[in-house]
Amino acid sequence: MAAPKIDLKTLKNKAKIELEKAKDLAALDEILRQYLGKKGQITLILRSLKDLSQAKRAKIGKEANEIKKLIEAQYQKKAKIFKEKSHKHSELKDWLDITRPGEKPKIGHLHPITQALKKAEEIFQAMGFTVVEGPEIETEWYNFDALNFPPDHPARDMQDTLWLKNQKLLLRTHTSPVQIRYMEKHQPPLKIIVPGRVFRSEATDASHEINFYQLEGLMVGKDISVANLKAIIEEFCRRFFGKPVKIKIRPSFFPFTEPSFEVDLLCVNCLGQGCSACQRTGWMEMMGAGMVHPNVLKNAGINPKMWQGFAFGLGFDRWVMAKHKINDIRLFYGGDLRFLKQF
Ligand code: FA5
Repeated sequence: MAAPKIDLKTLKNKAKIELEKAKDLAALDEILRQYLGKKGQITLILRSLKDLSQAKRAKIGKEANEIKKLIEAQYQKKAKIFKEKSHKHSELKDWLDITRPGEKPKIGHLHPITQALKKAEEIFQAMGFTVVEGPEIETEWYNFDALNFPPDHPARDMQDTLWLKNQKLLLRTHTSPVQIRYMEKHQPPLKIIVPGRVFRSEATDASHEINFYQLEGLMVGKDISVANLKAIIEEFCRRFFGKPVKIKIRPSFFPFTEPSFEVDLLCVNCLGQGCSACQRTGWMEMMGAGMVHPNVLKNAGINPKMWQGFAFGLGFDRWVMAKHKINDIRLFYGGDLRFLKQF
């Protein structure tokens, strides 16, 4: 085979320039193939040496081998750099910055009524009250009879009370039945609060729901009086609203207390000036209360000649409404996150 007529110097410079220009491993491999592959230009020259004269063979062979070594060395050098770069790149992709602040997981929070109930429980516990719970499904005895409701009391009507099967059971209309349940099992002196859900068959409006919360209080001892009731309520209001408050006690009627009261709070919104939160009266109706009726103590197995006490029942939703200046009770139960996220 005749040796290809080629100027080795030109070939060497061409190879050098191409190697310099190569931008990645693939380009480098292509250059290697062109010069040193099976049919590469240098390979062909080296293969043709045997056909040359002794003198030419020595000269061209030496030069061609030098070019071969140069290409190989240059290839190795650049290939190493390209390989390192691509390794670093993939490392960067997998790199984890452990100092980067974490992404906050979206978590919910307690309902504003639950938050306020927890606070109310803390306040009463600090004053020595025990937190007690009772069933939401009640018997007529605990919800009405034991609490001294006469048999024909209108609260027992289908229109007011949500009765269950055969009128034997009902959804409790207030938390007062837990007074009886607790006193049946515990002797005085006693101090309890009963937070919980109650149900009434109501037409709903801005201040009435079919399902709402009450917080019952009961304190029985040897010489518990209305003065104790007033002091406890005032202290609770002060701590719950976080500022000094004024309360007013006026006569009312409940079958299970004698005497009975309604407790009003000087409007925390307008401080008595009159505003929409207090229907322009300057006072907010916050709870029913009174001295426990002797028949109630008797029905729970406690001697009314030895013991006396007070009870109260807060409409808790309205307390939370007053605290946060919420103008519609139905917002609590609508499940609207735009409302709930504010608390
Ligand atoms: C009672 O339920 C008595 N058990 C309270 C009580 C306990 C009196 C112990 C004496 C001794 P009343 O029906 O007034 O009372 O309800 C108490 C409070 O619940 C009301 O002052 C009011 O704030 C709230 N309330 C009543 N009906 C609703 C309703 N439909 N939606 C929201 N809150 C209500």
